[in-house]
Amino acid sequence: MTVPVIIDCDPGHDDALALLLAAGDPRLRLLGVTTVAGNQTLDKTTRNAQRMLALAGASAVPVAAGCDRPLVGELDVAADIHGESGLDGPDLDVPVAPVAGEHAVELMRGLIADSPEPVTLIPTGPLTNVAMLLRTHPAARRNLRRIVLMGGSTARGNTTPYGEFNIVTDPEAADVVLRSGLPVTMVGLNVTHQALATPEVIAGFRAIGTRLGDVCADLMVFFAGAYLRTFGIPHPPVHDPIAVAAVIDPSLVRTVTAPVAVELAGAYTRGATVVDLHHRTGRPAATEVAVGLDVDRFWPLLRAAVTNLG
Ligand code: RIB
Ligand code: CA
Repeated sequence: MTVPVIIDCDPGHDDALALLLAAGDPRLRLLGVTTVAGNQTLDKTTRNAQRMLALAGASAVPVAAGCDRPLVGELDVAADIHGESGLDGPDLDVPVAPVAGEHAVELMRGLIADSPEPVTLIPTGPLTNVAMLLRTHPAARRNLRRIVLMGGSTARGNTTPYGEFNIVTDPEAADVVLRSGLPVTMVGLNVTHQALATPEVIAGFRAIGTRLGDVCADLMVFFAGAYLRTFGIPHPPVHDPIAVAAVIDPSLVRTVTAPVAVELAGAYTRGATVVDLHHRTGRPAATEVAVGLDVDRFWPLLRAAVTNLG
């Protein structure tokens, strides 16, 4: 039986790969895609989601734009990593379907309400839309199976010393989601940094021999240059598709249950995910935290999805 999912994203190079994995793996049923400001402004992340779905032959999947800034404070995009368009690198010239006329939160609410089976929500950007859904439509919880999010870290961050971009961009939204009482799985940098787009990995996508295979390779080539320039890391971690892979095949990602708090007030640590792996604080262990990845089985999964899309 296929798992009904909604991807809430901020494409973004790795979000683009996550969308292809969700659209191309037969074990998922992609009900809809919602977009949020993060890696780039909302207009750009929305257009990028539309373009990736069009390239994947999945233009029938509804796309709705959501929040254009975090709940508190201002938006700081990641143009240094994803470029001015948010998907710099490949040629993505493709006609796109119109976005849904409704707000992302309304599209999520409707898709969840209408689904005959509980829906899995896979956020791969800041959690602004998801927090707004939980606050404005609490009844949606009744048909939400779980939330498997890419964000946070059990160790250091990438945007501040202890803050990961999705959480740092909107810490209040992350706090709402992690305190929601819903089953949440956090796939953080400590795991996603094991999925590195090396030249061999990129060659594997080029070898698929399709436009989509080349788009994936070109996305990763650009991403690699950005990571080398910004972090001195030669091979970029593809964060977001790991969250999707964890829904497709839970055996790919090892998790532990632990208390996770979002730092909201720290002068130097705002947006950090404080993971009590050793249960020393006595706080409830409410979050599934990813601590391991079978990376050798991950890449074939993504290549197979891209190949399926033709
Ligand atoms: O920190 C990595 C995360 O932030 C990824 O989701 C990337 O796309 C950016 O949104
Ligand atoms: Ca993202």
